Amino acid sequence: MASRRMIHLKTEKEIDIIKQSSLIVGKTLAEVAKLIQPGVTCKTLDKVAEEYILESDAIPSFKGYHGYPATLCVSVNDVVVHGIPGDYELQNGDIVSVDCGAKKNGFHADYAYTFQVGKVAKEVQMLCERTKESLYKGIEQAKEGNRIGDIGNAIQSYVEGFGYSVVRELIGHGVGKNLHEKPDVPNYGQKGSGPKIKKGMVFCIEPMINLGLKYIQMDQDKWTIRTYDGKPSAHFEHMVAIRETGTEIISTYKYIEEVLIKKI
Ligand code: MF3
Ligand code: CO
Repeated sequence: MASRRMIHLKTEKEIDIIKQSSLIVGKTLAEVAKLIQPGVTCKTLDKVAEEYILESDAIPSFKGYHGYPATLCVSVNDVVVHGIPGDYELQNGDIVSVDCGAKKNGFHADYAYTFQVGKVAKEVQMLCERTKESLYKGIEQAKEGNRIGDIGNAIQSYVEGFGYSVVRELIGHGVGKNLHEKPDVPNYGQKGSGPKIKKGMVFCIEPMINLGLKYIQMDQDKWTIRTYDGKPSAHFEHMVAIRETGTEIISTYKYIEEVLIKKI
């Protein structure tokens, strides 16, 4: 029995399978993107996502995971991650991280995008933009021969330069037959620390960046994670594979951003 503590290296074939699951997540998030506007409930987003995943002959990865009750995590404003979609109606000026997972042919995909609802305060728009940029700074370091700590270091130094802070308690992770595998991928840390990045690794990089202080608290529901100071937090997640041909981002924002461009 393979240990949960080991890093499962994937074959090129397995990476192609993960990429198929990942395409479903990208298209699911695009369906969600179409609905994001003031007045829509978080529950509606969840329902549409679940239907889309099931129609794609895939299974929502999050539903039932340690008892998690929904298909999406929908995290509004000061909610960092793991918001349970309920009756809340999105409002003009909100930001909302939508995190989605789908499993097909035995392999999971998991990624997230932070959307802006209507007109968002400039300061919060910048937080979203720079959080997404930090994700790509991290991805640049995700190459064979580097170490996992190089990724977090790039993310942390980028966002701290703007006075933002990096959530410490929640981190990126390997992904494959299990939703969460080794290696842990923190969004902070020292250059040259952590495991060596090797061919066959597939992992999620997911910076959670706070406008204010790094501290978080958990709601009574035992899922919802909020910033301690009540200030907004942004979250973007991509999946990368270290392939024969180099590093590939196997998740895609293409379908999401096609929807968003039409909205402007
Ligand atoms: N992308 C989230 C994470 O990696 C997925 C959470 S699954 C949940 O933490 F079921 F815990 F919500
Ligand atoms: Co994840």
